[in-house]
Amino acid sequence: FNMTNWGFICVVVFLSFYSETQGLTHSRFQVKNHGYSTDPKPQFKEKYFPQIIDHFNFNVMGNGTYEQRYLITDEYWKRGSGPIFFYTGNEGDIWEFALNSGFITELAAQQRALVIFAEHRYYGKSLPFGQDSFNIPEVGLLTVEQALADYAIMITELKQQLGASACPVIVFGGSYGGMLSVYMRLRYPNIVAGALAASAPILSTAGMGESKQFFQDVTSDFENYAPECRDAVRGAFQRLQDLAQMEDYGRIQSAFSLCKTPSSYKDIHQLNGLLRNAFTLMAMLDYPYSTHFMGSMPANPVKVACDTMLGGADLLHALKDTAGIVYNSTGDLTCFDLYTLYVECADPTGCGLGFNSLAWDYQACTEIEMCYESNNVSDMFPPMPFTEKHREQYCSKRWGVIPRPGWLKTQFWGDALSTASNIIFSNGDLDPWANGGVRKSLSSSLIAINISEGAHHLDLREANDADPASVIKARKMESDTIAQWVKMEKER
Ligand SMILES: *[C@@H]1O[C@H](CO)[C@@H](O)[C@H](O)[C@H]1NC(C)=O
Ligand SMILES: *[C@@H]1O[C@H](CO)[C@@H](O)[C@H](O)[C@H]1NC(C)=O
Ligand SMILES: *[C@@H]1O[C@H](CO)[C@@H](O)[C@H](O)[C@H]1NC(C)=O
Ligand SMILES: *[C@@H]1O[C@H](CO)[C@@H](O)[C@H](O)[C@H]1NC(C)=O
Repeated sequence: FNMTNWGFICVVVFLSFYSETQGLTHSRFQVKNHGYSTDPKPQFKEKYFPQIIDHFNFNVMGNGTYEQRYLITDEYWKRGSGPIFFYTGNEGDIWEFALNSGFITELAAQQRALVIFAEHRYYGKSLPFGQDSFNIPEVGLLTVEQALADYAIMITELKQQLGASACPVIVFGGSYGGMLSVYMRLRYPNIVAGALAASAPILSTAGMGESKQFFQDVTSDFENYAPECRDAVRGAFQRLQDLAQMEDYGRIQSAFSLCKTPSSYKDIHQLNGLLRNAFTLMAMLDYPYSTHFMGSMPANPVKVACDTMLGGADLLHALKDTAGIVYNSTGDLTCFDLYTLYVECADPTGCGLGFNSLAWDYQACTEIEMCYESNNVSDMFPPMPFTEKHREQYCSKRWGVIPRPGWLKTQFWGDALSTASNIIFSNGDLDPWANGGVRKSLSSSLIAINISEGAHHLDLREANDADPASVIKARKMESDTIAQWVKMEKER
């Protein structure tokens, strides 16, 4: 999902975010907005849980375990009776999610909850086979089902250890993490009382979407800011295409400050992918204040991008500078290295970089379908098809697997959710993932919330002075609904 350009920037990002959130601004907020003054910065303890490696085969790995990382804080908890707020970790280092999901701890302070952020197997430090985890066949135990079973067992055992058997569990997640929250409620309603699934594209990833939808919605964000912006982007890609057709690779290198002169169709394809990825990230992370999540973004990056696209004298330079908002946020980049800044994978919206990207690539090659194309008609990007056939070819070559397109829908119900209950599906209208998810309430306890001015799971982020009214309202609804679920569960 690109959910994850962690990679090499991760450490830097983490450190800078960390120091920034120590500031005074944050605590002022909480006092002002919520009327309490507890320390707003949760003191997570980092721990490891001995987790079964293979939940579904009793022979091969026997009772073998791996060390699964989780973060926990009990500073807000009403011991023994307050609820448990459990974040179902997704495709990255768990600290990154914990530090970018302040709403959960703010809510925990209000509702006196224990907070746990669990890391997904094969990501961050939770590697079942250490350095060998991405070998074949070791990678084969990376499945959605294994990850859900990990969480089910972790919750059950931690509840026992902490004397929390009477405490209702609410799961939270954003993006793929939100999908996991939905699945936890479907799969383990005995353990989980309700789920907040923020920006969870459960339908498109189960093959129930439209291949054009994603890049069309990315385009809409720029078009809605200014139709001329969309035209400028399309025009710049066309200029690039013209130069490529003339094999004027020298001009392309200088216009885009490339480290190496491109020399083939393959290099141009890679450049197009890298450029398109910058727009994808800016659309997803179009928050009204600057953030350090999946890289560093200025406030309102779509506006910044369009001002850049429309401000330059030369379209190609403008396009390069716009990509620089994403890839050169430090200002330290001397040239663009095509193959290290962006890696093509089974997810055309990006897998990020580093070893977390290997895990996501494998998931995109097995259960999670993301066959999105750009076509320069319903979107502003060059035609870049990615069909089921392309996916199959890539995945069998890269991982020795053939994707099973129908499986996620069979396993996790697709849109036939009417017998489920207690799930909130929240989506931001600015988020290109939104229309791959549930947009209409399906019953009184399967609640869809639209956040008109929200990007990718803005509602999970901590309160900020720049928050639009729509996200404040969404958080209030989420908080009231969760309080009600907790109350109902206790009365059962
Ligand atoms: C696994 O089972 C064996 C045989 O019963 C036992 O000796 C060992 O301690 C068990 N390991 C774990 C991690 O439980
Ligand atoms: C995109 O479509 C426009 C027409 O809307 C066309 O002029 C242009 O050549 C196309 N660009 C590419 C890169 O295919
Ligand atoms: C990166 O940003 C700096 C500061 O704005 C600029 O001087 C430099 O040229 C940029 N690098 C590239 C490759 O565009
Ligand atoms: C959310 O927006 C979508 C798309 O615009 C719309 O179809 C849907 O009815 C809205 N849902 C709610 C709960 O307002």
